[in-house]
Amino acid sequence: MSVAEVFWINGPVLKARPQGSFSMKESVSVGPDHLAAEVIRLEADAITIQVFEDTTGLKPGIEVHGSGMPLAVELGPGLLGQMFDGIQRPLDRLADAHGDFIDAGSDLPNLDRERRWRYEPVTREGANVEGGQLLGRVPETSNILNHVLAPPGLAGVLEWQAPPGEYAVDKTVARIRTARRLEQVSMLQRWPIRTPRPCRERLTPDAPLFTGQRIIDTLFPIAKGGTSAMPGGFGTGKTVLQQTLAKWCDADVIVYIGCGERGNEMADVLAEFPLLEDPRTGRRLMERTVLIANTSNMPVAAREASIYTGITVAEYFRDQGYHVALFADSISRWAEALREISGRLEELPAEEGYPAYLPTRLAEFFERSGRVVTLKGDEASLTVVGTVSPPGGDFSEPVTAHARRFVKNFLALDRERAQARFYPAIHPLQSYSDYVPHTTRWWQSHGGIRWDERRGRILALLQEQSRLEKMVKIVGRDALPAEQRLILVCAEVTVEAFLKQSAFSENDRFCSPEKQVAMLQLAAAFAEHTWQFVAHGGDPDTLAQLPIVRRIQRMGDDIAGDRLAEFEILRTELEEQFHALLSSVTVTPAATS
Ligand SMILES: Nc1ncnc2c1ncn2[C@@H]1O[C@H](COP(=O)(O)OP(=O)(O)O)[C@@H](O)[C@H]1O
Ligand SMILES: [Mg+2]
Repeated sequence: MSVAEVFWINGPVLKARPQGSFSMKESVSVGPDHLAAEVIRLEADAITIQVFEDTTGLKPGIEVHGSGMPLAVELGPGLLGQMFDGIQRPLDRLADAHGDFIDAGSDLPNLDRERRWRYEPVTREGANVEGGQLLGRVPETSNILNHVLAPPGLAGVLEWQAPPGEYAVDKTVARIRTARRLEQVSMLQRWPIRTPRPCRERLTPDAPLFTGQRIIDTLFPIAKGGTSAMPGGFGTGKTVLQQTLAKWCDADVIVYIGCGERGNEMADVLAEFPLLEDPRTGRRLMERTVLIANTSNMPVAAREASIYTGITVAEYFRDQGYHVALFADSISRWAEALREISGRLEELPAEEGYPAYLPTRLAEFFERSGRVVTLKGDEASLTVVGTVSPPGGDFSEPVTAHARRFVKNFLALDRERAQARFYPAIHPLQSYSDYVPHTTRWWQSHGGIRWDERRGRILALLQEQSRLEKMVKIVGRDALPAEQRLILVCAEVTVEAFLKQSAFSENDRFCSPEKQVAMLQLAAAFAEHTWQFVAHGGDPDTLAQLPIVRRIQRMGDDIAGDRLAEFEILRTELEEQFHALLSSVTVTPAATS
């Protein structure tokens, strides 16, 4: 393999004089400790590399060794339930082997070689196989079956299959005779992280990634296979929201990337996730989760790599036919890593010091999402959801502005709402989803018959509320005609009852489609009755005193998802109270001001 001699060191970026040839994106190791690194620039007489580990103490003169291969991750049984760093080093096993601090150049394999997996061959010997085709199965965890597939790009005759049995991840379990040679195939595949894994066909999304968060599912749906950005200033609830989605969304497999956030926040995730119960199976959520952690105190180049490591792992499960959701918290910290490395390379900076290729890199990342037909022939999806942390909450800064161009779902987290402890602090007038047409049919088959119509009405109501509130600031609420005050009352009830949802409420942290529909119907019934009341001359501002209003505002919290019949009781109460109210209104419609 090629060797180079380091002559320039600037933080995680090194330059070295090559003897022999290196290629772009080649994985290399640096110095006597074999620090993991990658070639990021090639010149006639120098290579530039970024080092994924701490470079303190490195001196010019040390050697860089090429590997002849691009930076890759190991894919196979043993990913689920694990925590890795940005270049897929196994944090749990490293902590067991070395204590809490990762030693430089630690050479533990990414996937455990000691563990044995129960492999069951499914394709018969003598069959023609192509890349992505099923060879065998491994029950990886209690709820996820690992589908061992022929590596993409391979085609030939399956000459030999291992008999059912227990094998290490790198043990040959199949031999495929290709036109050129006999390939030994194990459960383990390596895949370069910066290259998207292939699929047979890309499809348009046709269902939501159901999250159980009303403001998302009902107003701003995220599609399975779609993209979403959640920008918000510090403390607006980005991390809580992402974790809530990771816990409750209806994806089969979750990849969670803690990217550049503070160590203590990530420590919470690392401590909490393993304890979480999977609402779908009652077992551990970790059994279908892969965590990737690269906190702010870890090397910046590994942070840059972490989102590619994460998305490659996510694609691997997609290729097995699963619906995968990837959460990255935060895209901004990744972009800052990119900026830092670019700065050390002395590249010409574009907006706010970010490199000119920031938008391209962002686009490439989000483009790896999608609903697809896999090489194996299944319909599967990869949904990508990233938080964005704009400095000062300013959405016009480059990372937010560019991310916005490449996602179809945009959930703007609002500081004022968060300060008022209104959660989730998603601002309904600054957020949007282009997936509404793709999710209408799904809602129809889940009880939301007139979902898009109701959705449109709520948004119109909220828009009107915002307009009227501006007027109220000038002329005062009392100066508004009754109809306009009524709009304010209805909007306030809807916001409080429907949009507010605590991540920490036992009954309300997850809201089923049926419960969302029931709540929407009740809010609509409330609005209809109030119109009648006002049409008969009632004063909208007296409505707030009705006991039913308080009950409606608390219905999400009060009524558990499996007690939907209680919404009927609430509806009866609503009708009774309005009936009583109407009979007490003596003014005739003609007398209304
Ligand atoms: N959906 C929610 N329900 C209840 N409380 C929330 C919710 N989202 C955020 N919070 C509160 O706000 C705090 C800050 O949220 P966090 O997600 O850490 O913000 P960010 O990641 O945007 O800096 C949390 O510790 C929690 O107390
Ligand atoms: Mg956060």
